[in-house]
Amino acid sequence: MLDRCCVVLVPAPFQGHITPMLQLGSILQSRGFSILVAHSEYNAPETSNHPSFSFLALPDEVAELDKSFENMGNVLEAININCKAPLKDCLVRMMENEELHGQVACIIYDTVMKFVDAVAVSLKLPSMVMRPNTAAYVRAHHTLFDLQAENCLPLSESQMEENVPNFHPFKFKDMPHPLSLEIPEKVIDFFKNTYAIGSSRAIIWNTMDELEPHHLSKLQQDFNVPFFCVGPFHKMAPPCKTSLLNEDDYCMEWLDKQAPNSVLYVSLGSIAGMDEKEVMETAWGLINSGQPFLWVIRDIFVNGAKSNSQLPDGFEEIIGEKGCLVKWAPQMKVLKHSAVGGFWSHCGWNSTLESICEGVPMICRPDFADQFINSRYVTHVWNIGLEMECPLDRGRVEETVRRLMVDEEGKELRNRTIDMKHRFHESVEKGGSSYQSLNQLAEFIFNI
Ligand code: UDX
Repeated sequence: MLDRCCVVLVPAPFQGHITPMLQLGSILQSRGFSILVAHSEYNAPETSNHPSFSFLALPDEVAELDKSFENMGNVLEAININCKAPLKDCLVRMMENEELHGQVACIIYDTVMKFVDAVAVSLKLPSMVMRPNTAAYVRAHHTLFDLQAENCLPLSESQMEENVPNFHPFKFKDMPHPLSLEIPEKVIDFFKNTYAIGSSRAIIWNTMDELEPHHLSKLQQDFNVPFFCVGPFHKMAPPCKTSLLNEDDYCMEWLDKQAPNSVLYVSLGSIAGMDEKEVMETAWGLINSGQPFLWVIRDIFVNGAKSNSQLPDGFEEIIGEKGCLVKWAPQMKVLKHSAVGGFWSHCGWNSTLESICEGVPMICRPDFADQFINSRYVTHVWNIGLEMECPLDRGRVEETVRRLMVDEEGKELRNRTIDMKHRFHESVEKGGSSYQSLNQLAEFIFNI
């Protein structure tokens, strides 16, 4: 009967959220569940990459909306309003035709797709939340809520440098939103909504029990539902392509020509960018470091510019033949390549996990949301990376790159990353914590 149980997944429409949800789908499918992905039309996943999943595009009516980073809250709000009825209709049809689809066992949704909870409740279907971030990031929300409740916001710039009490080693500047700015009520509500889990029966985490046991156990007291830590998802899942953009494989040929551990891979994920000055200072710093580099510059990368035809004057002449530029890389393959010795990252949680799993130490330059917490973990808890301090200038870039790629310090960072990689791999192997947690999750869904 197990193969007739269908799990409905509702991912949030961003690369860093779609990827773990699709990976979770592959993981659950390998345990006998059939998978339906109900997604917004905006940033729809490439269905042909997952021939064994069913897909349902939910009309979201956001085609005409401004998709800039600043307007993402409004886009998400519209998706939450407009996708509710189509999801409900689809589930009702599925429940009426169980002989076709199998029984809907549960709905697993990304924490920002709040409308799912109301749909699940109205249809009496069990639901679960998938958290694409760390437990520490989720706990960090409390700092924001507490400061707001005590009327202590905004903080001064000097307070931002202080440690958050009882939340070592995190600082106020690592919290989910810049606390030195006025925070509109709407934004606080957004964080409260995404923190809450509604009627969810459990939380599925892309992390491991042994990675952050303290934060997980504190949260467990808050949420009081079972936690299933089955990360890193990409190591638990059979390989699957999840990119929304076309991967440029040319860079793999370029990597083949480079010496082992010599290349710095530079990528800021799917959203973070740089302003023009930072782009130029980075270019000069990379060139002056003397290390070969592979740099992902997406079509929209330069903050404020509408496209990369607006890269700063002289940029391409500076880069010349010394580095390889691509618009989107096959990141997992890149990080596996023996030529890659370091990763300059914005510390998105997927990138962080992927880097550790390949034993690649990092240079951290977080930009928003959970990236500051992830960066603090990398540089101050696990000691597997260096912080790229602000403001970004060519001297600092050159020095940091050389520390990671050339100096003894870099070798120590690499060795620690490799140790961590082994621990991650153990957790997904038979008997490991994530492996066991997955067994429990499959059992839980089956009996729900
Ligand atoms: C967002 C948030 O920024 C991040 O902090 C949060 O944890 C998840 O959602 P994003 O910024 O895109 O994600 O970063 P990240 O989590 O690292 O995800 C990016 C994904 O895109 C990774 O899986 C990475 O492998 C992939 N990628 C990135 C590519 O395949 N090619 C590239 O060139 C760049």
